[in-house]
Amino acid sequence: MTAQDEVPAARVNLLFNERAVRVPAGVTLFDAASWNGIAIDSTCGGHGTCKKCRIRIPADPPAPTSLDVRAYSAQELRDGWRLACRAIATKDSSVEVPPLTTRPKAATVGVGRQVILRPAVIKRYLELAEPTLGDQATDLERVLAALDDLELTADLAVLRALGRTLRESDYLITAVVVDDALIAVESGDTTGHCYGIAFDLGTTTVVATLLDLNTGTPVAVESMLNKQQPFGADVITRISATMLDSDALDKLTALAHQTLSELAADVCKQGDVDPAHVYEIAVAGNATMTHIALGIDPEPLGVAPFIMATRLYPPTLASDLGVQVHPRARAVVFPAFGAYVGGDITAGLLASGMDRDSRVRLFVDIGTNCEIVLGNRDWLLATAAPAGPAFEGAAIRCGMRAADGAIEVVTMTPDSVDLKVIGDAEPAGLCGSGLVDAVTALVKVGLLDSSGRFVPDEEAASRAPGIAERLSMIGQERVFMLTDSVYLTQRDIRELQFAKAAIATGWRILLEEAGLTEKDVQQVLLAGSFGSYLSPASAIRIGLVPKVPVLRVVSAGNVAGEGAKMALLSLRERAGGLALLEEVNYVELSDRADFNDRFIDQLAFPHHD
Ligand code: FES
Repeated sequence: MTAQDEVPAARVNLLFNERAVRVPAGVTLFDAASWNGIAIDSTCGGHGTCKKCRIRIPADPPAPTSLDVRAYSAQELRDGWRLACRAIATKDSSVEVPPLTTRPKAATVGVGRQVILRPAVIKRYLELAEPTLGDQATDLERVLAALDDLELTADLAVLRALGRTLRESDYLITAVVVDDALIAVESGDTTGHCYGIAFDLGTTTVVATLLDLNTGTPVAVESMLNKQQPFGADVITRISATMLDSDALDKLTALAHQTLSELAADVCKQGDVDPAHVYEIAVAGNATMTHIALGIDPEPLGVAPFIMATRLYPPTLASDLGVQVHPRARAVVFPAFGAYVGGDITAGLLASGMDRDSRVRLFVDIGTNCEIVLGNRDWLLATAAPAGPAFEGAAIRCGMRAADGAIEVVTMTPDSVDLKVIGDAEPAGLCGSGLVDAVTALVKVGLLDSSGRFVPDEEAASRAPGIAERLSMIGQERVFMLTDSVYLTQRDIRELQFAKAAIATGWRILLEEAGLTEKDVQQVLLAGSFGSYLSPASAIRIGLVPKVPVLRVVSAGNVAGEGAKMALLSLRERAGGLALLEEVNYVELSDRADFNDRFIDQLAFPHHD
C-alpha cells in the first residue's frame, strides 16, 4: 500500500452546506470550518461567549453542552441547533451553516494564509460591584463570576495583588486570561494593550516579531545572530560542546536566554510597547536549539539512535526561556517530529498549509541539515537529509553567509559573467544561492561537465571563449575566478554535489514511498533564509529539486517564524500544528541499505535541453 492509499483513522468527513472537508477528529466544528475557509459567524473568536456561531446538525447531533442549553430553546436543541465552537467533530456529519451577519477579524500570515483572530490571550474589561455586608463574595469570586463563561484557575501570584488592585481601581479592572488561567488583573481598561512575541529560534539567526493580538498586525521585527555562535556554527558542534564540558549546557542555555531576552526588549522598544503587556510568546526552533533553550541535555540528539527528551514540551512560561515580559506570560514551544525534523519544521508546515491542500507539494528547508516533507491534506511524509555546510558557506573556500558583500546571483553567457552582490557592496565571497547559481551557469555554458569536473582548457576556449581564461590554478587546484579575489574551486563544486545529492536522494525516496514521480509534484516550497535567496531555475537545473515547471517552485520565506505568529494569533492554528505530529510519517534515511547507492547516483548534474 502506498502512503496515498492510507487514510489516517483519526479523521472525519464533514459536509458544511455543500462543501466536503476532512479534519482531525476531536477539533471543534468551528475550527474545522475555519481551517477550510468556511466562515461561521462569531465575534468572540470561538471562546464561547458571543453565541453567534449557530449551526444545525440535522441528523444525530451531539449532546448539547451547558452553553447550548443557554443559547437555544428546547425546540431548537431538538432540531439540532448547536454552537459550532462547542461541538466536537467525532464522526462523519452534515452541518448547516447560516449566512454571516458579522465579519470575523482576520490577518494574513504564513504562505498567504488567512487566519481568523482567536488568540489564547483574552483581555476583558470588568466593572464589578463593590462588596457590602450583604454581598460577601470574595475578591476572586467577584472576578470569576464576571467571567462565568470561562472556566478559570488563578494562581497565588494573582491573588497576592488582587485585593489591592480591586480597591485602588474602584473595582474597574481588566482581567487577563491565557487559555484557562487568569494570569493578571490590571487597573482600569487596558484591553487596548495586548501583545505577543513570535520567535524563530535558528541555529544561526534568531528573529523576533512583536504582534498586536487585538489586530493581528506585526508591530516590530528584529533579528540577531544566536549568541551561541562561539560554541560552533551548527547543532552538532554545540551538542559536542555539552559532551566535552559539563558547564557548557548551562552556558549555552544562558546564551539562548540572552538572545531571546535582548530581542524581546528590542522589539518592545521599537514598537513602544510596555513588556508587561506581552502575555504570550511562541518559539519555533529545531530540536537541539529548543532543548538547549529549555535547559534539557541535548546529548542524546547527537548520537545514534538520535532520541529526543520529548516531542511535546510541558507547559512553559516565557520566564523559563529567560524572556522578561509579563512575569506570568506563557510560552508556546513548537513540538518536533524527530531529532532532525524539529519544531521549526512543524511551524513551517503549519504556515505552508500543506496539511490542508489537495495538491501534492514538496517542502524543502535547506540548511546544514535539510528537512524535506512531501504530501497533501491526506498524507505527509518527512525526512531529514544531512546536506553538510555547503549552503551556509562554511565548507566553501570563498564561502560566506548571505550578508552584505556576498555574491547571491550569478549569470553567465559564453562571453560574460554577471554578479549581484547583497547590499551593493564589493564582492567579498559567495553565499549558498550564489554558489548554486555559479555552478548552474558553469554547467550551462559548458565549462563544467555533468560529473562536476571543469573541462580541459582547449574545450573551455571553444565553448565559452569570452570567459574561459577565468579558469586557472590556485595551488594545486583548478578554480574559476568570479572576481579577482572570489573564486570557485573544484572541491567547492564537490561539496555542492554532496549536498544536492543528499537532498535529492531524500525527496526521491519520499516520492518512491508515496508511489509518485517528479511529475506528480505540483508545487515545491523552498523554505528558510537560504531557500528565499535560491533561484528556482538554478535549483531545478542542478537537480536540487524535482524537474517541474519553474513557476511551481516558490520561495516560502521564513515559514518557521510565520508558523510561530499563527500560533499566537489563533488557538485553532495552534491545535492544527499539534495535530501535524499525528499526521506526519517520518522516514529515516540513515538506516536504508540503498541510501549510499542512491546518493552516488545523484551526484551528477542532470542534462537539460
Ligand atoms: S464563536 Fe462565539 S460563542 Fe461560539
